Amino acid sequence: MINKIIVGIETSCDDTCVGVLRILNGKPIILANLKVNQNILHGKYGGIVPEVAARSHVSRLPHVFREALTLSKISIEDIDLICYTAEPGLLGSLLVGEKFAKGLGTRYNLPTKGINHLKAHGLSPLLEAPITPPFLSLIISGGHTELLYFENINSYEVLEKTSDDALGELFDKVGRTMGLAFPAGPLIEEMALRTQEHMPISLPSILSFSGLKTKFMHLWEQGHKMEVICNSMQMVVADMLIRTINKYAQDIPLLVGGGVAANKYIQRRLKAQIKDVYFPSMGICTDNGIMVAWCGYLEVFNLFI
Ligand code: KG4
Ligand code: ZN
Repeated sequence: MINKIIVGIETSCDDTCVGVLRILNGKPIILANLKVNQNILHGKYGGIVPEVAARSHVSRLPHVFREALTLSKISIEDIDLICYTAEPGLLGSLLVGEKFAKGLGTRYNLPTKGINHLKAHGLSPLLEAPITPPFLSLIISGGHTELLYFENINSYEVLEKTSDDALGELFDKVGRTMGLAFPAGPLIEEMALRTQEHMPISLPSILSFSGLKTKFMHLWEQGHKMEVICNSMQMVVADMLIRTINKYAQDIPLLVGGGVAANKYIQRRLKAQIKDVYFPSMGICTDNGIMVAWCGYLEVFNLFI
């Protein structure tokens, strides 16, 4: 049985995240899952400023890393592997995580591994779901909206991809127009709970969110109520996701990851329509270091490849 301690460092965008994962007899146990967001820093600009994000990672990452080890009650010498997000993401932010991980690797003679952020989101539900490939994986986040087919852990095919904006971007941009704080996704979910009312919105013919973004911004300018816009937006995107997934095999499991996977309405709709669907727990939906450590474990040590 495999016993390891794996650290995951995630700095692809605006959250400084360090996760410590213990693999005990082949089973994952989360020892620490720390995230420091930069929402206040970027909020005044209405979106993420790459240079500000990178500088903030430089000053915060060493502290977050130290705190994660303290919380986990481990020392650097106990670590078996350090994983970091290598791509895709903001170049400056990614470099901070990579240099930090590799610096630790050199200083303490530890192996390091670069991880694909999308794949880490896509495999995150496997922390709790006892699923083996093949499976589909839907990634819905602020930067990506993609449906992947995993034949095994190390090889996947992109089946569908948004042709323009990501789903989280739709929520964040419409939210910003309506005066909601960044990131707007959780606030939109909260607002939608205040009403049953919704507007009939026709679905774009392809996986796309920029037309919807313009449509909802116009509805806001025309004076429609915020909660009705939020409710309608959640409904139409759930319809679009279900239509996209239903184009593919119905007899293999579907994993769903990424920040928008935290949305309980979307979870409910997908669970009602799709037989075998798995979401990560709440702290693992949005960017985090645990998914990076877990993906590294699956790639390096796992036996079901
Ligand atoms: O995965 P993530 O943390 O970062 C990226 O890789 O992009 O996703 C962030 C996105 C943001 O667009 C945010 O508004 C959205 O996830 N989000 C939500 C919820 N929580 C976060 N969207 C809808 N409902 C939520 N509860
Ligand atoms: Zn992400």
